[in-house]
Amino acid sequence: ASVVPFHGEHQAGIATDVQANLHFAAFDVTATSRDELVSLLQDWTAAAVALTAGKEVGAGGATGGRPLAPPSDTGEAVDLHANRLTLTVGAGPSLFDDRFGLAAARPAALVDLPAFPADALVPERSDGDLCVQACADDPQVAVHAIRTLTRIAAGRAAVRWAQLGYGRAATVDPGAPTPRNLFGFKDGTANPAASDTATLDDQVWVQPSDEQGAAAWVAGGSYLVARRIRMHIETWDRTSLQEQEQVIGRTKGSGAPLGHAGEHDAFDARTLPASSHVRLAHPSMNGGAQMLRRGYNFTDGTDGLGHLDAGLFFLAYQRDVRKAFIPIQTALARQDALSEYLEHTASGVWAVFPGVPQGGYLGQQLLS
Ligand code: HEM
Repeated sequence: ASVVPFHGEHQAGIATDVQANLHFAAFDVTATSRDELVSLLQDWTAAAVALTAGKEVGAGGATGGRPLAPPSDTGEAVDLHANRLTLTVGAGPSLFDDRFGLAAARPAALVDLPAFPADALVPERSDGDLCVQACADDPQVAVHAIRTLTRIAAGRAAVRWAQLGYGRAATVDPGAPTPRNLFGFKDGTANPAASDTATLDDQVWVQPSDEQGAAAWVAGGSYLVARRIRMHIETWDRTSLQEQEQVIGRTKGSGAPLGHAGEHDAFDARTLPASSHVRLAHPSMNGGAQMLRRGYNFTDGTDGLGHLDAGLFFLAYQRDVRKAFIPIQTALARQDALSEYLEHTASGVWAVFPGVPQGGYLGQQLLS
């Protein structure tokens, strides 16, 4: 089926089979009242319901309206169907300042990310009051969705920064072939499976007991960390196969942990090289913490110095960034042999809204 249901207990686009393409956008809210913010999220919801069903937005759609008025739908996705489009929306720490009276509703787990060693973040390409992750099996469908939400937001929110991803570098289906990142390694092998609801409840979805009082709205949601990670491809490409495998801790061909034969073989992380990525990121080295990684490869042309400006747009969903991303990235930034080939250039963290019930709107749990 090419339609992923929009409504549900959790938002789609997290434990959804990873689509082929991404358009991610972070927005600054320019609305000045809470009512205006609510109306924006209501309008986004109506559009998201139509878009994810493969329908044109607005009265008249692309060509059925009044000829003397601009069409409600821009039209470039007509005939492309839903292509498994999902739209996943979250609120950043800055939404909880004093503009909308939401300070008390900021979840304790929605902390500002600390600075990590070797971060090279560009502030204008980081953070944002709201984020929208659009994923689809056709790139134009994902781009059309973000373009449409941006048009609808006019006067109430504006795009702060955005990122296109052209190839998935993750999977939540251990039965399907694992895709590869731009270093040529399989990526997503150890991800939780979409079907493993016990692990998702334990590691990805915020549970009702996690936050109290005005912040209790976030139950059923999740926390998203996005990092635009430039990969120094040219340096990597001059590195021997053996060194590449020692850096990752898995073989390049099959993706098996070093010393094992099969990609999905069980392994003891302490038997992998001390500074290997998989050893340092492994749950057994991080208090059992896991994340659902859903990143995409990107290539944004060149850097003007003859090198590809390419890498991984890292997206990871988790129940608590204080237990998962922050300690894991702290260990990786300090010790990971892979860090030598990476540069983190953009960053953001958002509390992803719980799922939208039929007739409800995105963020209703927070705003009503
Ligand atoms: C695993 C690559 C950034 C966390 C892996 C694997 C590869 C990989 C090839 C092994 C296959 C798999 O299990 O998915 C990369 C590359 C990165 C990157 C190329 C940057 C461009 C990060 C970051 C984090 C992270 C920033 C978190 C802070 C993990 C975790 C695992 C993993 C948790 C699974 C470990 C396990 O349970 O075995 N990564 N990664 N990675 N990575 Fe990364």
